[in-house]
Amino acid sequence: MGKTAKLIVDGRTYELPIVVGREGEMALDISRLHKDTGLITLDPGYGNTGSCESSISYMNGDEGILRYRGIPIEQLAEHSTFVETAYLLINGDLPTAEELNEFSLMLNNHSLIHEEMRNFFEHFPRGAHPMNILASMVNAMRALYPEIPEESEKEDIDKTLARLLSKLRTMAAMSYRISQGQKVVYPSYLFSYCANFLNMMFDTPVRPYMIDEDFVRALNLFWVLHADHEQNCSTSAVRLVGSAQVNLYAAISAGISALWGPLHGGANQAVVEMFQVIHESGGDPAPFVARAKDKKDPFLLMGFGHSVYKNYDPRGRIMKKMCDKLLQKKNINDPLLDIAKKLEEVALKDSFFIDNRLYPNVDFYSGILLRTIGIPLNMFTVMFAIGRLPGWISQWKESREDPKGKLHRPRQVYLGHDKRDYVPVNERKKGNK
Ligand code: CMC
Repeated sequence: MGKTAKLIVDGRTYELPIVVGREGEMALDISRLHKDTGLITLDPGYGNTGSCESSISYMNGDEGILRYRGIPIEQLAEHSTFVETAYLLINGDLPTAEELNEFSLMLNNHSLIHEEMRNFFEHFPRGAHPMNILASMVNAMRALYPEIPEESEKEDIDKTLARLLSKLRTMAAMSYRISQGQKVVYPSYLFSYCANFLNMMFDTPVRPYMIDEDFVRALNLFWVLHADHEQNCSTSAVRLVGSAQVNLYAAISAGISALWGPLHGGANQAVVEMFQVIHESGGDPAPFVARAKDKKDPFLLMGFGHSVYKNYDPRGRIMKKMCDKLLQKKNINDPLLDIAKKLEEVALKDSFFIDNRLYPNVDFYSGILLRTIGIPLNMFTVMFAIGRLPGWISQWKESREDPKGKLHRPRQVYLGHDKRDYVPVNERKKGNK
């Protein structure tokens, strides 16, 4: 008999099982709570709610730990590539050399997008945000590609997932080219996943893009660090929408939409915009830290704080190191990196940030890395989306295969009107509805 907790309501005692995770973390299993007691839980923002059991990534917010399929993020950042990490997340283990080769080949084989999709692209208004285009285009894929039937063979599922992984990158680069009024560059067999993306973004008939291995390495690292992050907002959106048994594309499109918000993936763009404002105002971060502390001011220090990490985000730490290394190697002096470091120093000494345990998160330094590679600001969140795709796919797959899986349908505590009667329109008075 495992551990239980006791809940006493109106003198009646109910026993709630305690589920213990692999790392000893404990959760109250309330799955029978409503049936047995008539009660529901109230947890706005779900900060105390485990929405599923998962074997994909492990986070410890107090200690600043992140692992994919058991492997520490630091090791993956140092040794792995984005494609290998995607394989690990989706399939559960690191691939053998042969499996990796086959997977890469499959990504290469599926990198082109259906020519008819270009019609969709071309009808977006100029200036549309690339996240807007990407979410719509992924949803539109279902019009051209088949769904995964319930009884599919593994090979068919693998093919659909690889297709999406490969095409999202192509569509992202295409949406940028089209937004610039430039000719689209097709993916090429000659390049690896990351190099291919850079080539599709930047190659022109006038000036061929020279692949820079330092940038390819930096991009691999950026995407490895973003590849999964357990039940974050966009992943929860993918799982929730997926729980209605919609097609994969619709579920991923929901994830992309959720990611766009500035409190989530949109923060990487917002951080660099904030650094620019600080830079243009003379470079002193102190007034911005003061504003972030002022509860009457809606201003937040972007790239700081995290719902789970109450310590330095391990991804942020690696990103900062990579920024230093890359800029030094390229002999680039980005004033925004100095602003970031100054801002971090001031904030980390401030009692508000210390007491609230607010540290730099992954987005604090990631924009500087992207700028160095040459990625334009409005593509930053798209870059996050490409990186997060293996996570969304593996979480969607795990949820689909979960024998306990069911339609996600939270409850609420109703605080509206008491029952009242319908009033015909000609009898209604303003202010007396
Ligand atoms: N600037 C100023 N105050 C902050 C900040 C910040 N960046 N972050 C948190 N706080 C305040 C927060 O308002 C709360 O105050 P109070 O107790 O008076 O309500 C207190 O600090 C504790 O906050 P928390 O409970 O630790 O954080 P949370 O779960 O409410 O919010 C967050 C998490 C990420 C939405 C928030 O930290 C934030 O808005 N940060 C800026 C946006 C950002 O960088 N987002 C990227 C997150 S990492 C990438 C990803 O996974 O999407």
